[in-house]
Amino acid sequence: MADIEFTYLPGDGIGPEVGAAALVVLEAVGDRFGHGLSPDHQLIGGAAIDAGEAPLPDATFASCQRTGAILLGAVGGPKWDHLRNEARPEIGALLPLRKRLNLYANIRPCKPYAALLDRAPLKRDRLDGTDFIVMRELTGGIYFGDKGRFLDASGRDTAYDECRYTVAEVERIAVKAFDLAMTRRRKITSVDKSNVLATSRLWREVVDRVAADYPDVELEHLLVDAMTMHMLTRPTDFDLVLTGNMFGDILTDEASVLCGSMGVIPSASLSDMRGDGYAVGLFEPIHGSAPDIAGLDRANPLAMILSAAWMLRLSFGLDDEADAVEQAVEATLDAGDVTGDLGGSLSTSDVGARVAERVRHAA
Ligand code: NAD
Ligand code: IPM
Ligand code: MN
Repeated sequence: MADIEFTYLPGDGIGPEVGAAALVVLEAVGDRFGHGLSPDHQLIGGAAIDAGEAPLPDATFASCQRTGAILLGAVGGPKWDHLRNEARPEIGALLPLRKRLNLYANIRPCKPYAALLDRAPLKRDRLDGTDFIVMRELTGGIYFGDKGRFLDASGRDTAYDECRYTVAEVERIAVKAFDLAMTRRRKITSVDKSNVLATSRLWREVVDRVAADYPDVELEHLLVDAMTMHMLTRPTDFDLVLTGNMFGDILTDEASVLCGSMGVIPSASLSDMRGDGYAVGLFEPIHGSAPDIAGLDRANPLAMILSAAWMLRLSFGLDDEADAVEQAVEATLDAGDVTGDLGGSLSTSDVGARVAERVRHAA
């Protein structure tokens, strides 16, 4: 009997729709396993701006700090695209949330479900057996460097984004990756652009140094342009892909295609362990606010539901509960109870209800 207390940030676009489906599933978990559920609803992103607040209101950040477990839908959308820099939902809410909570390790899985193998554009014989995790550095690199726009000496309108990494930033994400690799198939593919970028040369140097402490883990380095290709031609070769902030963003959208839809990929953004042994965690789908289908009850809620399962496991240590949700998702996919992105015709709320039903009634 535990009280599952977390900060719930539905955000913008499809965020509140997939969020509502995840809450229904968490309610079912609470009923079946005898836990109380206390989501602390808070505003973030465009929803906060529309309410006259900052993109990341103080009350929202305070709740995140207090609970240490955050379930987020998505932020951003055309309505707020005219805003600049910190006034934007992405730069003013999501990035500082990650940075201020020190959520430097972002984990995104790529393991196509059996029921979805034929939904991906790749031939089944290339895809079958794919099972890798991308560990993306989340609080450094070009996302957090100085940026600006100015007229240069010749009056040319110019913009710049600075990319920096310190040795310490690379070291801690590399250690996290090698530790995780030890629990898997003991192979890391580190992805960079060291033929051009100074930050990537530092990245490679530090990863090599950390690797020396893990003689049982095989390490390969790939350049990011080549990686986009290898991911499609030999996806089963990868086990743990370690990469920086921007490359990780791009590669994981590509990886989601192997899984049939970005609507089935959760993510966890983690800091170091707390005193109770669990990480402070932000759990969110890798997809965005999908403005093209927002408000239509058509978005796939599975990425959000799986993010909630990861929250149960990683922030609360509720392994059986997380397993129950993941099994219910798999059974729902096997039954073909899916939204349009996966070739089905169910609504967001119907898929949520079917997963919840299976959580409630599974043996
Ligand atoms: P997106 O991920 O929102 O959508 C890309 C495409 O995938 C769209 O066609 C969309 O309909 C589809 N899609 C995404 N999620 C889906 C789901 N659950 N079910 C079915 N289809 C789904 O990316 P975008 O259109 O480039 O960005 C839209 C907005 O979202 C932008 O403002 C962007 O900054 C923001 N964004 C936010 C986050 C986040 O909050 N974590 C992540 C990515 C993008
Ligand atoms: C993601 C998103 C964000 C990112 C944006 C919205 C800032 O694309 O979480 O993948 O680039 O990290
Ligand atoms: Mn992204």
